[in-house]
Amino acid sequence: MNRVNVKNNVTWIGKIDWELRKFHGDEYSTHRGSTYNSYLIKEEKVALIDTVWMPFSKEFLENLADGVDLSKIDYVIANHAESDHSGALPELMRHIPETPIYCTKNGIKSLKGHYHKDWNFKVVKTGDRLSLGEKELIFIEAPMLHWPDSMFCYLTQDNILFSNDAFGQHYASEHMFNDLVDQFELMTECIKYYANILTPFSKLVDKKIKEVLSFNLPVEIICPSHGVIWRDNPVQIVNKYLEWANDYKENQITILYDTMWNGTRVVAENIATGIKSSDGSVDIKLYNISKTDKNDIITDIFRSKGIVVGSPTINKGVLTSVAGILEEINGLRFVGKKAAAFGSYGWSGESIKIILDALEKSGFQIVDQGLKVMWNPNEEDIKSCIKYGETLSGLLS
Ligand code: FEO
Repeated sequence: MNRVNVKNNVTWIGKIDWELRKFHGDEYSTHRGSTYNSYLIKEEKVALIDTVWMPFSKEFLENLADGVDLSKIDYVIANHAESDHSGALPELMRHIPETPIYCTKNGIKSLKGHYHKDWNFKVVKTGDRLSLGEKELIFIEAPMLHWPDSMFCYLTQDNILFSNDAFGQHYASEHMFNDLVDQFELMTECIKYYANILTPFSKLVDKKIKEVLSFNLPVEIICPSHGVIWRDNPVQIVNKYLEWANDYKENQITILYDTMWNGTRVVAENIATGIKSSDGSVDIKLYNISKTDKNDIITDIFRSKGIVVGSPTINKGVLTSVAGILEEINGLRFVGKKAAAFGSYGWSGESIKIILDALEKSGFQIVDQGLKVMWNPNEEDIKSCIKYGETLSGLLS
């Protein structure tokens, strides 16, 4: 399956990467694979929007050449220079070296930085139009959503928004449309994508969506650069993005920890018991960081109103797994969330202060000075953990 009609003369011509399990190096888990979406528009003029990741260049070019004489491509549109979308450009441009590439000013910098080629670049800005005959492409810059070069484009008359990474999901499916896939799987991948990639840019997401809405362009279909195409009620994902971009939280508390000899695990589980006994309606997620996918934990932090982070003390610090996720959390700049900390220790017990300092620096509101338990918790300690959970239930609300 390498070609799908989207509408009229618009064809999806990308690559479904069924086996992908890690993206961005090792940074993003893709449990359900992904797709690299390229779109071919054959009007009086022929335009190609984005390409695929470099390992699939040859396959992509063969597929593309089946659909169009490469020399008949009038315009290449590079909505985003990241390698998963521009990777096949060097191979494509080897065949059509003079064909203009339309991108933002920052797109030229990024594409030159990646490929060191002086292709026939044409800079576009928001509101610029490119005639394909009866229909036009309208360009909309989207800086930092999620790279400086990112942009969208819109096809008039067919009313299609090509949104690149925005509204996308790492989700491989033989059904390329949102109404044909499992809705739980789809939305799970959408929120994971937002939480792990777009969270730091939420203010810009909100602003950009409102700007695009102010253009009053009718949008019948949204074609992202990953995953399925939104043809059934596409406004649903736009509304979700507006919700996610504005201090999103559910009635959920996520407890994350690592443990050496189970002391910190026992503290974690009893804090959870205390929270639940105090508020039966709250959803609790409990994760051992070293045994859980990092991106899944981040998604649950994104959903939570508060988090509780635990680590035993080792060498006056925290376990490296805990340090790693604190670094990840710091980069994502969550807004409007509360936090507390806990941990077991033998003789010095610095871990709690280290966790709280890191979370405060990352923008969390610290609600308490934390719970510290010496050695393995005894019966009295366990009662204290439950009591602490009951207290946290109120403090984290
Ligand atoms: Fe899908 Fe930012 O690349």
